[in-house]
Amino acid sequence: MKIISVVGARPNFMKIAPFISALRDYVENSEVEIQHILVHTGQHYDVRMSETFFSDLAIPEPDINLEIGSGSHGEQLGQTMMAFEKVLLEQKPDWVVVVGDVNATLACTVIAKRLQIKVAHIEAGLRSFDMGMPEEINRLVTDRLSDLLFTPDSISSEHLRKEGTPEKKIHLVGNIMIDTLEKNKKQASEIELDKIITDNLVNSNLQIKESLKDFDYALMTLHRPSNVDNRVIFSDLVDFITNDVVKSVYLIWPLHPRAKKQLIKMGLWDSVATNPRLLLLHPLRYHEMLRLNMTAKMMLTDSGGLQEECCVLGTPCLTIRSTTERPITLREHSGAAVLVGNQVETIRKEFYQTLSLDQRPSRPPLWDGHTAERIVEVLMKST
Ligand code: UD1
Repeated sequence: MKIISVVGARPNFMKIAPFISALRDYVENSEVEIQHILVHTGQHYDVRMSETFFSDLAIPEPDINLEIGSGSHGEQLGQTMMAFEKVLLEQKPDWVVVVGDVNATLACTVIAKRLQIKVAHIEAGLRSFDMGMPEEINRLVTDRLSDLLFTPDSISSEHLRKEGTPEKKIHLVGNIMIDTLEKNKKQASEIELDKIITDNLVNSNLQIKESLKDFDYALMTLHRPSNVDNRVIFSDLVDFITNDVVKSVYLIWPLHPRAKKQLIKMGLWDSVATNPRLLLLHPLRYHEMLRLNMTAKMMLTDSGGLQEECCVLGTPCLTIRSTTERPITLREHSGAAVLVGNQVETIRKEFYQTLSLDQRPSRPPLWDGHTAERIVEVLMKST
């Protein structure tokens, strides 16, 4: 049996790591011969966006790197399909395993199905119902085409049923990213706060680290085109953090390359870089981000995965988006997050309310660190 699994961008790496490890364990304890090939499409290529995750999470070196890199959606999708088609024709796998909702996920699913190869999708059934998000289109197409759909929660399974997905394809297995969190949280908790700052600081506020303490800071990440590509929205958000947030707490902001590029392009760089209570950091390694999240007073983010990690860690989270494909993370479902959109008046109000909130960790069923084992078990029975 031959399995090709695919990664392309940063949020894929923490999802594939437990799958590969569970597959390896399965092979060691069974008679089945399995050949596993890891393909990296190369959508993310900076050392800090890609390579460090392979070493930190003990993911084997990709067997094949398609080196697609950046480009328009059309370029990324088209080039990935062309390059991955060649791999599939040569390798003839029985299964292609894709994770998440990035462009690599969509492109590799479409071309695998074109060649009649079975596809398993890990993290299936998420829906934001916002067709303006590239990821929503990626999710819809990937799920429609996949043969096995591994969902993280019952809401996601229900979305698939409503869309007419045959019951036998849907498997509620839990959240694979939490496998990675569980495996790495002890190591993360041992990292000193000031070491993370010293190793990653972009602006020159090094003196802050002397006074920085656990729970004295908010942590922010922004990278969605809907927030950082729109000049009015992004400058309003920057006003809000430099005028409101930093008056109550320090702000630590690890910068996604897309956000950094836009801050410079829109002339906003100086106002954030020179703010004395704001720490701009490079993109962080997995354990560094987990460590900061563990003792953050609050998370402000438009990321998908961080909403989920906040639930499990109990970090109150303002989700700076108007929709979420992960409603299980919201306070109405006992999660840690509240959707605040990108209008500053709403965000400000929720920010001050959330500062006084005593959040408790909440763990949806099956977010227990054993999702990958369940996936491998189903996959083996399905061949
Ligand atoms: C992609 C995913 C998004 C995911 C995010 C996490 C899609 C449609 N989007 O968005 O779902 O949440 O990854 O990061 O797949 N760049 C670098 N170095 C890199 C990679 C990118 O500098 O290693 C810069 C380039 O200027 C590039 C820009 O970031 O044009 C955006 O990268 P891209 O992969 O197109 O999308 P993301 O915004 O990262």
